[in-house]
Amino acid sequence: MNSAPKLRLGVNIDHVATLRNARGGAVPDPLRAAQMALAAGADGITAHLREDRRHINDDDMRRLKASIDAPLNFEMAATEQMLDIALKTRPHACCLVPEKRTERTTEGGLDVVGGEQHLLPFVNELSRAGIRVSLFIEPSFEALAAAVAIRAPVVELHTGAWCNAAALGQDEAAAEFARLRAAATEAARLGLECHAGHGLDYQTARIIAALPELVELNIGHFLIGEAIFVGLEASVRSMRAAMDEGRHA
Ligand code: PXP
Repeated sequence: MNSAPKLRLGVNIDHVATLRNARGGAVPDPLRAAQMALAAGADGITAHLREDRRHINDDDMRRLKASIDAPLNFEMAATEQMLDIALKTRPHACCLVPEKRTERTTEGGLDVVGGEQHLLPFVNELSRAGIRVSLFIEPSFEALAAAVAIRAPVVELHTGAWCNAAALGQDEAAAEFARLRAAATEAARLGLECHAGHGLDYQTARIIAALPELVELNIGHFLIGEAIFVGLEASVRSMRAAMDEGRHA
């Protein structure tokens, strides 16, 4: 029996905004989705304000901060413009992510190794404002050491490579999972709070929830997709159940 504490679920509502933006206008409203996800058992809300505003926009961030009664995790690129918005928004947490205009989604972890000089002022300024800073990184020991060097208190391990391999039934899934397991153990040894996310579904969330060092999972695309068929409340409840099951297996 795993005696690790309850694993937090952060629901990423970006793709509610993607759907809204497909037509312009105001519906479906990401704020309504956030409130529904929280009522269904999410512990926090995650939203990524991209440079190109392809889904979440500035007003969404402002409304989320003003209206939800739970931690808001603001995903952002390490740019001056985003820093300025984050400092005005004052979310509970900021997760620094790499961003490329041409990518469909966040394809890999931050270039934290070698990028320390660029990232350090962002970690410092956000931390000074009382915002908990997380770095979205590949599950590698080098990236973890670099996160410690710039005094980031939290890392989020990119689970995309594992989820992609697992979905295709590829042999490399076991190797990818071993990387995640080793990185979670090392993060805890280094005193980092450890989160994970990207590409998770019920099955992969259930498996990864068993890693006792993990404190939070951030999950979006799958939950919003499932919501089309079963409703958002039901998809969040099923995810919560899968995570609890995995944690206590
Ligand atoms: N965590 C981070 C840092 C992300 O950038 C994303 C995608 O925006 C997620 C978690 C959620 O990934 P997915 O939408 O694939 O569940």
